[in-house]
Amino acid sequence: MRLDRFLSNLPRFNRQQVRLLLVQKRIRVDGLIIGDPHHEVREFSQVEVDDEVLQAGRPPRYLMLHKPEGCVSATRDPQHRTVLELIDEPDVLELHIAGRLDFNTTGLMILTNDGQWSRRLTQPQTKLPKVYYVETEQLIGPEYVETFARGLYFAFEDLTTQPATLELLGPRSARLSIVEGRYHQVKRMFGHFDNKVLRLHREAMGPLMLDEHLAPGQYRPLRAEEIERI
Ligand code: URA
Repeated sequence: MRLDRFLSNLPRFNRQQVRLLLVQKRIRVDGLIIGDPHHEVREFSQVEVDDEVLQAGRPPRYLMLHKPEGCVSATRDPQHRTVLELIDEPDVLELHIAGRLDFNTTGLMILTNDGQWSRRLTQPQTKLPKVYYVETEQLIGPEYVETFARGLYFAFEDLTTQPATLELLGPRSARLSIVEGRYHQVKRMFGHFDNKVLRLHREAMGPLMLDEHLAPGQYRPLRAEEIERI
């Protein structure tokens, strides 16, 4: 948000006061005096007037977790281990999951406190492919490829899924790429053919690939170039 808008949204300043504060060089963003009303203020920026803090700065956080089987994508669960319990960081409760996975699905999971960034990663409109390795109970036929590419009607949501790409790897294994993340989407797509998904593993979300050095349950911060790619 622009600095002048950020300041005039506060109940204590009107627009004229904001202009004056900026001209008088009384506003500091992340430690620097700022006079430019267009200066971008992020939810992570520290903003001060004179020496009074208007918004406390905090670091943006981006973690890549190799989600193991048998844990839930939730902040709290009365019965089961949650993915957040795998994260040993002081600000863990500020993090949210960018793209949930089912209890027994494994693979790439991103946790962050940056809502704007995570929306770009998960929104269907940005069309970032989410890539899954899938193993099924029954044979996967070539007709799946065309059906998934056309899209499947989901009656509950009253929508047709966006075109998905299926690459057959073996008689009962495939790699599926989808750009959205509807509830149980992959299982429901294979369910259309009465084919049960036995193993599901997310390999990538857009340009972010699961780090092969991470064992199930391990995590690491994203690198600066990974964060910038989203
Ligand atoms: N689709 C599913 O059905 N389950 C997941 O965990 C992810 C995508």
